[in-house]
Amino acid sequence: MLFTLGLSAQSIKSPNGNFNLTFELKDGVPVYQLSMGGEPIVKESKLGLELKDTPSLLGGFTIENTEESTFDETWQPVWGEVKDIRNHYNELAVTLNQKETARKMIIRFRVFDDGLGFRYEFPEQDNLIYFVIKEERTQFAMTGDHTAYWIPGDFDTQEYEYNTSKMSEIRALMAGAMRGNASTTTFSDTGVQTSLLLKTDNGTFINLHEAALIEYSCMHLELDDENMIFESYLTPDAVGNKGYMQAPRVTPWRTVIASKNAGDILMSHITLNLNEPCAYDDTSWIKPVKYVGVWWEMITGKSDWAYTSLPAVQLGKTDFSETTPSGRHGATTENVKRYIDFAAEHGFDAVLVEGWNEGWEDWIGKSKDYVFDFLTPYPDFDVDEVREYAKAKGVKMMMHHETSGAVRNYERHMDKAYQFMVDNGYNSVKSGYVGNIIPRGEHHYGQWLVNHYQYAVEKAAEYKIMVNAHEAVRPTGLSRTYPNLIANESARGTEYEAFVGTKAEHTTILPFTRLIGGPMDYTPGIFQTDISKINPDRDTFVHTTLARQLALYVTMYSPLQMAADLPEHYEQHMDAFQFIKDVAIDWDDTKVLEAEPGDFITYARKAKGTENWFVGRTNDEIGRTSKIKFDFLDADKKYIATIYSDAKDAHYETNPQAYEIKKVIVTSKSKLSQYCAPGGGYAISIMEVKDKSELKGLKRL
Ligand code: NOJ
Ligand code: CA
Repeated sequence: MLFTLGLSAQSIKSPNGNFNLTFELKDGVPVYQLSMGGEPIVKESKLGLELKDTPSLLGGFTIENTEESTFDETWQPVWGEVKDIRNHYNELAVTLNQKETARKMIIRFRVFDDGLGFRYEFPEQDNLIYFVIKEERTQFAMTGDHTAYWIPGDFDTQEYEYNTSKMSEIRALMAGAMRGNASTTTFSDTGVQTSLLLKTDNGTFINLHEAALIEYSCMHLELDDENMIFESYLTPDAVGNKGYMQAPRVTPWRTVIASKNAGDILMSHITLNLNEPCAYDDTSWIKPVKYVGVWWEMITGKSDWAYTSLPAVQLGKTDFSETTPSGRHGATTENVKRYIDFAAEHGFDAVLVEGWNEGWEDWIGKSKDYVFDFLTPYPDFDVDEVREYAKAKGVKMMMHHETSGAVRNYERHMDKAYQFMVDNGYNSVKSGYVGNIIPRGEHHYGQWLVNHYQYAVEKAAEYKIMVNAHEAVRPTGLSRTYPNLIANESARGTEYEAFVGTKAEHTTILPFTRLIGGPMDYTPGIFQTDISKINPDRDTFVHTTLARQLALYVTMYSPLQMAADLPEHYEQHMDAFQFIKDVAIDWDDTKVLEAEPGDFITYARKAKGTENWFVGRTNDEIGRTSKIKFDFLDADKKYIATIYSDAKDAHYETNPQAYEIKKVIVTSKSKLSQYCAPGGGYAISIMEVKDKSELKGLKRL
């Protein structure tokens, strides 16, 4: 296919010439197109915004000025998948003039060797100061009916399973794809969420997402399935508006990452690069965290968050010391101490405790403003005792702030709540936004909430607190600027396996979609996959083998990793648990060894500051053989590899706990052909040999 270029067309290439971006005005309407190695990726697509009560910024433009520049820097993230990140692009900034209204808008394009980012900018000017967005009208016109890996567009939840279908099939599949959640607001039969992965018939992968979502509402995509055009669909506020702006202001970046090679999508740094450099001078307090917690026992229904079985409580009025406990409360001092002991014994950094504070009797589905104060413990959770015990054992406590969607209430209490954390030795918080938002009518992904999540992260930094927000808007690379945002949930995590189950392929898609924006608190490490063994009232199971749970520490990149299962389950498999103890959570280098979305992913990562590597492979529901080379290793070194794999008869449904562990010598010349069971995978720790005596009795791979 040939592009038709008008005379006024401007075009720039990526630094290596692979991508070509063209911009022009067609009858005053801004349009762009993108190609990769001559192959069209985005066909001619319109740009602009529809405004409320004022003329839109959709057409009537002339080009006032264009500026081209180039940028090349290498920067070091505070934590990450690699040590050095190169940010290298060519930029085209087009200043548009809407003569009739005497208003200006800049569209800034950055073309990288792996794709494109662009945004709208509203410079300071007399005729455009305050304005309200009715809808952003950014198009991504696809070249055909690609395969899409999608979840329904929803203003309040991303906790869906992925659907893999042709774009043209989305409409017919949508009703079946929408499922219940504590808060859900779908909007269209062809509405999908970003980050969206597509695969063309000739095998090109395309990812559409956004970067640096600040003071703006989160973008969904709505498909015009006659013309195969995705168009932006912003999350509205309570009265239906989509964004309140004041110039000078910029929008988030819209991103298009593309490659013939699936692994390049996973390794793209476009999303981080389009964010601003770190906003903090001192980042010494931000550290990756491996943690355990009083959590899975509530998720599986073995114990409760609430202290009583009262149908309702009132903070400050209900005297919990006078109420009868249900006997099912998980967050008791004694139980927490057991987890602290376990964390200390096995080298974990922190212990999360949920359900420690008053109010859980009312936490879900009540639309109640004052559910929690984030300060007052239940009578059986002794804050002082826990603080001193954890301190003596060298373990940090991880705070839990469930807001129950009552966001205004959380903001009211935030300073005190963070100060309480500092006073009691908690340096990280898991926050949560379950249920419909208060102020009522606001959505989880609207501008008001986006501003709140940002406020919570920046305010936490004042207290040197790291944040892991659940049910918050999906990440857009903001952790480059605010690295104390160490993870988010914002997708369907392991918890759903205990509720209803999730297809085995889920973790072969998430890295291509949700993780493009940033790390996920996926909470892996479930060894007892049969939930009925923990709670006889449930018949759910985790769609995985035990070996694959180990692999997830490598394949689901995050500087925050939980060993989510109960200590007693780890105690039954100490040999396999060793991998969770050993695996790094911060990396100097990362390689994708094998990848096909929906089928499998194999990563190798080099642990920060060491010569040790870790490999992880996650498989879908089909048994497959993985073939990898160890050529990522240093050719002059020898290593001992411990391979944790599925046994031959392992199967995620019938025989999940069948695993094998073997130790072998590997070098950069080694190769491995490894069977992965249905729902399986494998994990390998590769430790540099420092003393020859370590090799005794071991065979070469
Ligand atoms: C949902 C979170 O994802 C989960 O991890 C947490 O335990 C519950 N909310 C309670 O806050
Ligand atoms: Ca959740």
